[in-house]
Amino acid sequence: MPTISRAPDTGVWLLTTPRTSYAVHIDETGAPCHLAWGPRLTPREAEELVLPAGEAASSFEGRPAVGEELPVDGGTRYGTPSLQVRYEDGSRGFEWQPTGHRVLTPSDGVGELRLEFRDRHYPLHVALHYRVRDDTDVIERWTVLRNDGEQRVSLLRTDSAAWSLPPLADYRLSHVTGQWSAESQLRRERLPHGETVLTSRRGITSHHAGPWVMVDAGDAGEEHGRVFGAALAWSGSWRITAQRTPDGRAGFTGGVGHESTCVPLAPAEEFATPVFAGLFTDGGFGAASRAWHAYTLRHVLPHGREVAPVLYNSWEATGFDVDEANQKALAERAAALGVELYVVDDGWFGARRSDRAGLGDWTPAPERFPRGLGPLADTVHRLGMRFGIWVEPEMVNPDSDLYREHPDWVLHTPGRARSELRNQLVLNFARDDVADWAHGWLTRLVADHGIDFLKWDMNRAFSEAGWPGAPDGHDRLWTRYVANLYGVLDRLRADHTGLRIETCSGGGGRVDLGILARTDQAWVSDNTDAVDRLVIQHGFSQLHPARAMSAWVTDVPNQLTSRTVPLRFRFHVAMCGLLGIGGDLARWSGEELAEGADLVAEYKRVRHLVQHGALYRLSGPHGELPTVVQYAAEDGTETLVLAWQRGPRHGLPRLPVRLRGLTPGARYRDARTGEVHHATVLAEYGFRPDLPSGDWASTAVHLVRVGQDEA
Ligand code: GLA
Repeated sequence: MPTISRAPDTGVWLLTTPRTSYAVHIDETGAPCHLAWGPRLTPREAEELVLPAGEAASSFEGRPAVGEELPVDGGTRYGTPSLQVRYEDGSRGFEWQPTGHRVLTPSDGVGELRLEFRDRHYPLHVALHYRVRDDTDVIERWTVLRNDGEQRVSLLRTDSAAWSLPPLADYRLSHVTGQWSAESQLRRERLPHGETVLTSRRGITSHHAGPWVMVDAGDAGEEHGRVFGAALAWSGSWRITAQRTPDGRAGFTGGVGHESTCVPLAPAEEFATPVFAGLFTDGGFGAASRAWHAYTLRHVLPHGREVAPVLYNSWEATGFDVDEANQKALAERAAALGVELYVVDDGWFGARRSDRAGLGDWTPAPERFPRGLGPLADTVHRLGMRFGIWVEPEMVNPDSDLYREHPDWVLHTPGRARSELRNQLVLNFARDDVADWAHGWLTRLVADHGIDFLKWDMNRAFSEAGWPGAPDGHDRLWTRYVANLYGVLDRLRADHTGLRIETCSGGGGRVDLGILARTDQAWVSDNTDAVDRLVIQHGFSQLHPARAMSAWVTDVPNQLTSRTVPLRFRFHVAMCGLLGIGGDLARWSGEELAEGADLVAEYKRVRHLVQHGALYRLSGPHGELPTVVQYAAEDGTETLVLAWQRGPRHGLPRLPVRLRGLTPGARYRDARTGEVHHATVLAEYGFRPDLPSGDWASTAVHLVRVGQDEA
């Protein structure tokens, strides 16, 4: 059971997860202060960490910049504010006055602590929420603000939580940066003194930065060392500021919006921030990733336990030129390969012949689907596959009937241009009528055609983001847009419980714990080059599980990079996630189709390990040595090792990799060769994946436990 306790004398709150503790207390000024985050503590041990009051380093200094649970703008605080408020009379700041607390008794392995406060002068109520569970060390934190007064309050900054780190000798920040078709590039760099801002100003999570951080002392590795991290469950603009102070402390605060956006609170209105979840582990980056993966499978993804089907997607094969005949032909070939879910991508509706027209007009194009989508859906179902379709409900091409009818439905600012990206504008999902319209046609489309799967795309960032005519519209839209997007997804899922959804945003522009709570998988990049993809998948896997990672095998030379690598190599890379096929099967030779069918069958034999096992990144995707990843069953019964050699060089050492997650003393049989290995040898002395010679060699080795050695 997770526990939440309060020491009677000191008032120290202690939250306990299976392997970690988190302690908080309210100081003599009434402010919630951080005490501990790390290995487990007893209540008495936690109390020892409370410093006597009045121990300021010098009378010249204000309050420390790091060490409060939600540093506010107010008093003698000069660090990054997590909460910045402006009242209607022009005054600012927040002064903590505790008003109570609530412990929601742990049940079903979940416990929640709520610490409640108000401002000493203004009727603004703030509650800090903490949730702990018995099967994860991830602690969920969020804040709820309520305006109890009669005048409007502006939340200039309203972060979900601030996380404080213990004093460390050094600090190193791990995070991802990227761009379209090069998302999730892992960066690991020394945290500079001062403030480091990671942010998206785009209205979406973005390709350019991911809303999560991990910090270590510069000494953690893949399998050792203390790592502190936090991830924001939000799919709009966001900001995380990591701070390193001159007195040797560090912490990070994060929440919705970027600078100059604001959340207005009308009288009696409440704003609940999204969760900013934190994790401490002493098992290095690998253990951190595995803990985030397990948490996401159990508590974020709506169907994390479900085995995902092998998918086919038409995008790289037929582009915008989809029609009933070519899709049926592809579907026949896909089914023969062993595909279980057939997805028609862009181009099936309205006047959509290119990216210049038709977005917004969601009826099947009559010259391409003269009898609607029904016959194609029936064929796909008859072939034993599920039927999926691409949609981009938040967008409109100016050249569309929808835009001609509702030019005011897009985000816009009077007196400003309506800047296009990919020839399209963003519909203002913050408007309830727009969100209702989207829900209406989507739910009908799904019902009318027996659609099993939606690829929900969102291909451009906001610009001239305004909402003329709505009170506080320009400020409200940033959070209301996301809330309504979530609302439409939630309603659709409730209408159609069998429907599964893939989140996509020009590739991986909107992947975060918020959208993953409402979808089933993510399209992580439009870049399907298998070699580039190894790097993207390495970054993606730092936080997100393979169960959420769609990956396709596409044709060579690759459309984006012109690189050619063997079919096996491409399959082995895509087998690291949810295997999909995106090549033009009409052009695959008989030999390729046969090899593809074998590899699909092989994936089906091991996908439970990939989708639900524990990931070990044994050797990364950079440098000359092979890249190696391993997926292990939690109970040690089997394991899968995938390895890729890029360009070999004569004389390269063939280093063994030490496998993880095996049962000590057990023996494992290689399912293909029949060779039997001892766990001790595999884990302590290492295993050399049988990579053939030559460029772009790859292998997948499935090891199954067959027995146990005598003690
Ligand atoms: C985005 C997606 C692609 C494809 C196209 C269709 O770029 O990421 O996979 O669906 O849109 O226009």
